[in-house]
Amino acid sequence: MLKITRATDPALAELLDEELSRQEHNIEMIASESTAPLAVMELTGSVFTNKTLEGYPGKRFQAGSHIADKVEQLACERACELFGAEHANIQTYSGSTANYSVFASVLDPGDKILSMRLDQGGHLTHGSPANWMSKVYHYEFYAMDPETEQIDYDALEVQAREYQPKLIIAGASSYSRLIDYERIAKVAKEVGAYFMVDMAHIAGLVAAKIIPSPIPHADFVTSSTTKTFCGARSGMVFCKAEHAQALDKGTFPGAIGSIHLNTMAAKCWSFKYAATDEFRAIMEQVVKNAQCLAEELTSYGFRIVSGGTDNHLMVVDLREKGVTGKAFQDALDAVGITVNKNMIPFDPEKPGVTSGVRIGLTAVSQRGLKEPEIREIAHIMNCVAEAPEDETNLQECKQRAQELIAKFPLYPAGSFDD
Ligand SMILES: Cc1ncc(COP(=O)(O)O)c(C=O)c1O
Repeated sequence: MLKITRATDPALAELLDEELSRQEHNIEMIASESTAPLAVMELTGSVFTNKTLEGYPGKRFQAGSHIADKVEQLACERACELFGAEHANIQTYSGSTANYSVFASVLDPGDKILSMRLDQGGHLTHGSPANWMSKVYHYEFYAMDPETEQIDYDALEVQAREYQPKLIIAGASSYSRLIDYERIAKVAKEVGAYFMVDMAHIAGLVAAKIIPSPIPHADFVTSSTTKTFCGARSGMVFCKAEHAQALDKGTFPGAIGSIHLNTMAAKCWSFKYAATDEFRAIMEQVVKNAQCLAEELTSYGFRIVSGGTDNHLMVVDLREKGVTGKAFQDALDAVGITVNKNMIPFDPEKPGVTSGVRIGLTAVSQRGLKEPEIREIAHIMNCVAEAPEDETNLQECKQRAQELIAKFPLYPAGSFDD
């Protein structure tokens, strides 16, 4: 697969080999990661990369777009069918730009947005002071109930009535519970706000109908196509038919330029694949594995934020174990288990340190790991937490982790042979 790169740029080919080996030998548990199927790799590297096109099928700015039109139409039809949506726009480049295209569709500078607190699960593009959106719109944030560590819907409703936002955003980067879309949609309607759900993390589980869909309740639903969707590094947006024109205009020319036809083709393939029994079985196992890990870690004295998980991820409070998120992340990294430090709700630690880690089960479930292996991972994690600075302990843990993951190849043997 790397024949030409190997001949023309050995230094770069070597880095690719290193990364493939890292992924192969690591237990990958970053909640936003998944493994792209080989067809997605093939299509993202296909001749569709060469085509420049802007606009929509039948209304392109460039000639020679008739085949691209068929790809986009097929992809949109499949996307709408898969998610039961009235309209899909799949031109956006990622989950972040998907959000920007909705903002460009229905908001004016200075408009008010109500979204989830970023240190309790929200995303950068939902109003972080570090994100340029915060210079364009006014934000207010809703929070978790300190008791349940789940969205405080009563407080959200009060805030919505007082603040009168033009847009309410639900959806998160590190929230392990189902969201009551119906309830938020109701208050959005009452205050005259648009309701947008960012399902970037959970789109695969929604597509496979493992957890409830936001599509019937929201005006707009945005997403990445990586994460649980396991597809190309790209994005997608769905909306009610009444907003279709605004969304298309907000996306192009509102938020993006030319289409990435190669990733669009890969998304088209994924919309078909996500409707298969094979994909559904993986998504089912993702949730079973997540719940298994949450239970096992709890039995070792870790505390799972909100008490458990309904989806592919969990945030683990490490304070009882006497280790910070950063220290645990680094120690796990040393043994070949990849997670990320993460704030817990009302975290006393700084964002660079944190009291927690976020753990996701998508990539390991794709590789075929089931409950017995997840229990072994929980045990290794506990051994790491017990003595995160003990080199001998870490070496032993690393050996166990490597033996475990070696039985579950990342890709079928020979997939990347030259
Ligand atoms: C909730 C949420 N929205 C949007 C994004 C951004 O997606 P992308 O990385 O595809 O731009 C993320 C990324 O982690 C996310 O968690």
